[in-house]
Amino acid sequence: MTDSFHRWNGTDSYIADDALAAAVNVATALQRPLLVKGEPGTGKTLLAHAIAEGLGMELFTWHVKSTTRAQDGCWVYDAVARLQDSRFGDRDVRDVSQYIELGPLGRAFSSDQRAVLLIDEIDKADIEFPNDLLHELDAMRFVITETGEEVKAKHRPVVIITSNAEKELPDAFLRRCVFHYIDFPDEDRLAQICRVHHPEVDDKLLAAALRRFMALRSVKHLRKKPTTSELVDWISGLRLAGIDPEKLQTTLPFAGVLLKDESDAQKAAKAGAADGSGGESGGGSGSASGGGWRGWR
Ligand SMILES: Nc1ncnc2c1ncn2[C@@H]1O[C@H](COP(=O)(O)OP(=O)(O)OP(=O)(O)O)[C@@H](O)[C@H]1O
Ligand SMILES: [Mg+2]
Repeated sequence: MTDSFHRWNGTDSYIADDALAAAVNVATALQRPLLVKGEPGTGKTLLAHAIAEGLGMELFTWHVKSTTRAQDGCWVYDAVARLQDSRFGDRDVRDVSQYIELGPLGRAFSSDQRAVLLIDEIDKADIEFPNDLLHELDAMRFVITETGEEVKAKHRPVVIITSNAEKELPDAFLRRCVFHYIDFPDEDRLAQICRVHHPEVDDKLLAAALRRFMALRSVKHLRKKPTTSELVDWISGLRLAGIDPEKLQTTLPFAGVLLKDESDAQKAAKAGAADGSGGESGGGSGSASGGGWRGWR
């Protein structure tokens, strides 16, 4: 493999393991979209930002919603503005192109330099959405119906597609993509990620926070396990409040930053008792208290 293949390897602010870097580099070299799945908060969206930063490219973001249609990414025609102008305005409404605005895909195609296009949370849209995009992503061109103008990619963008697996994606769509599942980071990698966001964090605080976090994640049958981004936030809270690392052995301050479900809090409390880590609850005192969440340590 050549040096030009190994172009991306994470950035100073984005920690990527070898498998993720390989997936990014092979998708970039093959000029195929990279479809990224993984638990919430595992850095799927941030990945596109990091690729753009690492490769020195502009990023175009298309955040998909339940109502998003494939055409919206290419262009949007503002028929209402044109109608308004025809009745009340002084613009020449015969020039339809004034009412056409390129979407993120259209802008990425029109970019003079190779760009990164993020299609974020593709599974939020209608089941037909990925199929409707196949042609544009394959051909890297589309025609604006209202004007007949063809928009053709000057450079094939690096396309990153994220999904939380809420819906299955069609086989024909999958066939065109390189796929990567971002595994939940192990403790060492989590520590690296936390250090990126908290370069000044005290070693003892980080170690104690990670221990508590990993123990929480290992509680069985949680409805929603705490994620990397919640850990990063939790450490911010611990630092801002000046929590003593020793205190984390007996209390779980600001538990609501990590646990978002009452039943999860109860399961965690039970698991703590079952681990034999019982004793007096430290959650009840001071601003570092975990609110109503006190049983588990
Ligand atoms: N590898 C990483 N390097 C640095 N920070 C990371 C990494 N992974 C996750 N994070 C942290 O987690 C946060 C959430 O990342 P991001 O929004 O990209 O997750 P996501 O997988 O897109 O989540 P969701 O599925 O909820 O959209 C980031 O803002 C960052 O703080
Ligand atoms: Mg995301």
